[in-house]
Amino acid sequence: MIKIAPSILAANFSKLAEEVKEVENAGAELIHIDVMDGHFVPNITMGAIVVEALRPVTKLPLDVHLMIENPDAHIEQFAEAGADYITVHVEACRHLHRTLQLIKSTGAKSGVVLNPHTPIETILHVLDEIDLVLFMTVNPGFGGQKFIYSVLPKVKQLADLIRERNLKIEIEIDGGINEETIIPCVEAGATIFVAGSAIYNEPDRAKALQRIKSAGEG
Ligand code: DX5
Ligand code: ZN
Repeated sequence: MIKIAPSILAANFSKLAEEVKEVENAGAELIHIDVMDGHFVPNITMGAIVVEALRPVTKLPLDVHLMIENPDAHIEQFAEAGADYITVHVEACRHLHRTLQLIKSTGAKSGVVLNPHTPIETILHVLDEIDLVLFMTVNPGFGGQKFIYSVLPKVKQLADLIRERNLKIEIEIDGGINEETIIPCVEAGATIFVAGSAIYNEPDRAKALQRIKSAGEG
């Protein structure tokens, strides 16, 4: 089963509620919200106030991707705003185990994000605290970048390990996903796919979403 998580980063912010409803009606499974602080990544986007505003707009789970320094200071606020998944970058966490426990204590699902260069060894000893691993297939900070294929062996490495140990961890991919790049990601073992520009930059979002999904389902 493949799940598509449209990233609202590529949506029209002057009518965000409609943009979210449109992809929900088109068959999206999650809504991906990119939070950037201008420190961990060069760009600044949105905060918990946007999560709170979107919460009553959709029934879909809100997948909040925190590209911020010191995520511990903001996790409870995002959970209260209605985040269902909260994902933090391993590169931004000094005490990753504590951060993951903090996410879980709020009732949200815990996710860890790995930048393209970050090995899976950084999370091997905290797998029990993780519901989701998000692999970046671009350098975080901007939408519309080119997919980095060299991340795929890492995805397969974790997928094999999850299978061997019979763990309940989902694998999500973020960056440069379209109807072409989704195929090797599915083969590597991922099940959730973020897509920003490949959905929102298309005139018919429903068709674009369905094309990506059916490419992934083979
Ligand atoms: C990048 C963000 C992505 C981005 C994906 O830092 O984390 O979620 O919105 O955009 P596309 O699908 O255009 O690469
Ligand atoms: Zn993202």
